[in-house]
Amino acid sequence: MEQAMRNFFLFLSKNRSLTRMAKKYGLKFGAARFVAGETVEKAAAVIQNLNKQGLAVTIDYLGEFVDNEREADEMADNSIKAIEAIGKQKLNSQLSLKMTSMGLDISDEVVMRNMRRILEAAKKNHVFVTIDMEDFSRCQKSLDIFKRLKSEYDNVGTVIQAYLYRTVNDIKDLNEFHPNLRLVKGAYKESPEVAFPEKKDVDDNFKTIIKMHLLNGNYTAVATHDDAMIEYTKQLVKDHNISNDQFEFQMLYGIRSERQLELVKEGYKMRVYVPYGTDWYGYFMRRLAERPANVAFVLKGMFK
Ligand code: FDA
Repeated sequence: MEQAMRNFFLFLSKNRSLTRMAKKYGLKFGAARFVAGETVEKAAAVIQNLNKQGLAVTIDYLGEFVDNEREADEMADNSIKAIEAIGKQKLNSQLSLKMTSMGLDISDEVVMRNMRRILEAAKKNHVFVTIDMEDFSRCQKSLDIFKRLKSEYDNVGTVIQAYLYRTVNDIKDLNEFHPNLRLVKGAYKESPEVAFPEKKDVDDNFKTIIKMHLLNGNYTAVATHDDAMIEYTKQLVKDHNISNDQFEFQMLYGIRSERQLELVKEGYKMRVYVPYGTDWYGYFMRRLAERPANVAFVLKGMFK
């Protein structure tokens, strides 16, 4: 049942008509729990509040299905606005983005041009940029572009997904760049030909890559709401005398907010992923797919 629901919401997340419709009608159906607002001003106010509580942030301007150059350029302009707001208001925030929204599916030239514009603005404002990882079909291309950008800029990192079979090799392959990586379980619907279908195997592989990347001496963001993975990381760093400034935990805005603050109190660096913008629908559907309790929350909100 849970798997069927997950597939249903992942299916809905890819619907272009619903994506377009949702943009027109504003944050609805409880999406405001997971999305900080539709404008950069609203997002900045949310970030200030999180920073006051000791939480670091990474901000993401939401955008799905970008398939022409004008839209990709606009997406990049909006990310640059977010970077400038971070710099101007001295927010404790990084930036996250999806390369499809910068033109990954259009051409290498468009995506590289937009990524360079963003990374230049980010360098000027001392902002670190993480390239989110999307579905498997874009993984190799994303990593190839990441490597090119990483050889030009220091302030860029990316994401590695534990559910893919290829992941251990990617961690080995990327090690020569000493990258700052966000490690996650993986959020897209993938075929068993490329990804572990069983949760236990994903969890085991997650632990394997956390250990590999940390013991390689690289900065590691462990992005999960799963206490088992958090406890594993805490024990690992203790056993290997890894200092608290070589890693951080990350969670999504609106999910396990109390746990986030507990980790801050325990002395760990905790970063919250804060999405904003009018294109909230696909992101929201992926969050519903992750957890039936989120669906119950939304249904309650709808009938209030
Ligand atoms: P999982 O969903 O397996 O949950 C495990 C356990 O966590 C649950 O059983 C429960 O105990 C606890 N839990 C989870 N949600 C809870 C809640 N709301 N309340 C209480 N307990 C809860 N994916 C991707 O493919 N590309 C990307 O770039 C990113 N980026 C990214 C950034 C950040 C900051 C995060 C946190 C996540 C991502 N993801 C991602 C998403 C990621 O791949 C994954 O889909 C989700 O984090 C869900 O997996 P978890 O590791 O949280 O555990």
